Amino acid sequence: NTQNSESRGALIVLEGLDRCGKTSQSTRLVNYLNGIGHSVESWRFPDRNTGVGQMISSYLSNKSQLDDRAIHLLFSANRWEKRSLMEDELKRGTTLIVDRYSYSGVAFSSAKGLDIEWCKAPDIGLLAPDLVIYLDISPEEAAKRGGYGGERYEQREFQKKVALFYQKLQDPTWKIIDAKLEVEDVEKLIRDMVLDCILTCKKGKPILKLWA
Ligand code: TYD
Repeated sequence: NTQNSESRGALIVLEGLDRCGKTSQSTRLVNYLNGIGHSVESWRFPDRNTGVGQMISSYLSNKSQLDDRAIHLLFSANRWEKRSLMEDELKRGTTLIVDRYSYSGVAFSSAKGLDIEWCKAPDIGLLAPDLVIYLDISPEEAAKRGGYGGERYEQREFQKKVALFYQKLQDPTWKIIDAKLEVEDVEKLIRDMVLDCILTCKKGKPILKLWA
């Protein structure tokens, strides 16, 4: 093990509209990093395995109804319940590749009409990602990819609004990739960004907090 005790893992988030290809890219990336000997874990939000996650899952599959603000706070709580484990893993030197995070939380709830600042507030203080990779696809292109599934938010008009709010959330930690490129080309772009980020974190970049 060549890591010194100072070196930490990177917190890397993949974001994008439903059907942008995040999930398969995240799998490819984790396999690649594993293959070249990095300590890496694949994470996703919502984490449907916790009690809170099961409430979210039931809501998303239209098996239960919840007030827009209540479900928003559950998504946030689902991230908070994982916060300390996340920090422990990073400090142990493990890089986390996270499929969706607070940006999904804010973009999807704001698209329903909730105030964007109100939506950000419960996530203030969570760990800030070192890199956010946004897979950019139009709602039209996304819908062509075998169509949306049956879950609550998978509708074209709604996805259009989500895309607008994603735009408002962009900050310097974001890198935007054209998700219409060939899968292998997207994969290559992601790898380069991620390796660069991992190196910066190893060199001692501090862990920051969200929306400070
Ligand atoms: P996800 O489990 O990633 O489903 P999929 O693999 O189908 O993309 O996310 C489920 C939905 O939940 C997705 O439409 C985005 C939405 N979402 C929120 O509304 N708020 C959140 O905080 C998160 C993490 C996701």
